[in-house]
Amino acid sequence: MSKVKACVFASGTGSNFQAIIESENLNCEIVLLVCDKPGARVIEIAEKYSIPTFVFHPKDYTSKAVYEKILVEKLKSAGVTWVFLAGYMRLIGPELLDTYEGKIVNIHPSLLPDFPGKDAIGQAFQAGVDKTGVTIHFVDAGMDTGPVIAQESVEVLENDTIHTVTARIQKIEHTLYPKVINQLINESEATLCAKEL
Ligand code: GRF
Repeated sequence: MSKVKACVFASGTGSNFQAIIESENLNCEIVLLVCDKPGARVIEIAEKYSIPTFVFHPKDYTSKAVYEKILVEKLKSAGVTWVFLAGYMRLIGPELLDTYEGKIVNIHPSLLPDFPGKDAIGQAFQAGVDKTGVTIHFVDAGMDTGPVIAQESVEVLENDTIHTVTARIQKIEHTLYPKVINQLINESEATLCAKEL
């Protein structure tokens, strides 16, 4: 039986994208990388692993609805059923949300609802918290507001710098995201099988 097909949206260095595609026993096939930043390092990783990419510049389109319609077409023609955001720094609009309802997931480097938005690690560090972490959540129309799927915390120690905290957060992200992806797909496949019985 062929694997479920998924797409990753990423615009940055792509360490999470890399962790997902290098993860052993991943129960889905990453068939496409969508990137809204031409030149981002994540594109090189996709090329290295021969994963097709769709790289676009939002400013080349008249609206989010216009480019998201194109994204929906690309995803559908690639047979994508799940979308995993990993450093895609844009809100998702109705075109994608309605088509992939309950199937778009994001990873965020804080214990949401604390420190949503950009520079979550910096925000937590500035706030002087003694604990931050990683959240994986379903995506809705808000910024980092969808229902939480999994969280893992990271202690902030007295002699920590933003770099040491970032490194610990990333280490957790790279194991937690593939694990949660497998769980989500297993659960949804089991529900589908049950419905067919
Ligand atoms: C990660 O910290 C993720 O939580 C956030 O964006 C960052 C992406 O990093 N949404 P990378 O490009 O995967 O290294």
